[in-house]
Amino acid sequence: MTARPAVDRTVPGLRERVRAWRADGRTVGLVPTMGALHDGHMALVRTAQGHCDHVVASIFVNPAQFGPREDFESYPRREARDLVMLGEAGVDVAFMPDVAEMYPEGFATTVAVSGLTECLCGRDRPVHFQGVATVVTKLLLQCLPDAAFFGEKDFQQLQVIRRLARDLDIPVAIRGVATVREADDVALSSRNAYLTPAQRARAPAMIAALRHVAARIDEGMAAAEAAEQGRRMLDGAGFDRIDYLEVREEDGLALVEAQPGPGRPARVFAAALLGDTRLIDNWPVG
Ligand code: PAJ
Repeated sequence: MTARPAVDRTVPGLRERVRAWRADGRTVGLVPTMGALHDGHMALVRTAQGHCDHVVASIFVNPAQFGPREDFESYPRREARDLVMLGEAGVDVAFMPDVAEMYPEGFATTVAVSGLTECLCGRDRPVHFQGVATVVTKLLLQCLPDAAFFGEKDFQQLQVIRRLARDLDIPVAIRGVATVREADDVALSSRNAYLTPAQRARAPAMIAALRHVAARIDEGMAAAEAAEQGRRMLDGAGFDRIDYLEVREEDGLALVEAQPGPGRPARVFAAALLGDTRLIDNWPVG
């Protein structure tokens, strides 16, 4: 039998464990997740293990980051299976607080990161990034790891977290990890489980459109025109609604309409629905 990770469900329990590691001079990495783990999450775990002596993976389906009509209730919860995966990967501790531990009676504080959160996924989901910023701030302060690891799959989220750690002087290095993809290059996501076989067959059109847009821009086409071609590709491939397909700078997420400026890396970002399932992905230009 593979060892299961230790499970902490309270903040004092987690703090005590991290304190003991620190007293031994060990470094600590944190991998925040909402569970339903897949190989994308495990890539964050492996990267954290490469950088830190001990790794804490948190599993918390955060109600504050779901809108009223979103999938909080139905979000996949697979605690036993997640613990087996973390154990097989050699994770030391799973931090699994319940909602009352994270948001006790009277909880009244929100972390809001302006600017970065008003575009892309923030435009259609106004509360989403406040919920993410608040819970990630809490997780960083509860664990106080040396480094915390986040996927580039959620690139806007990664930039929001970098910003809040800098702005609030949270002494944790924020590290981005490259997106893990299926054999057909669809980004791994817990929400892929919602897709019917017919919808799953259409999903690769998203990364194809992103790469097409990046290639046109590399050839010299204006980003706005290339993005329009990308939107038409998603539409033609049977996506049911396109929330956005845009080219933005990595730092600050400013919209790029012509060519990316020198020394200003840019990415193509997309979010679109297959049925009720919202897929997001991004791809670098250049
Ligand atoms: P969740 O969707 O569970 O993702 C947890 C982490 O895994 C995030 O940093 C996300 O970017 C990363 N991830 C997801 N799919 C990935 C993939 N295919 N390749 C690489 N990394 C991937 O994102 C959240 O949870 C929450 O918003 C959270 C940060 C935990 C705050 O509640």
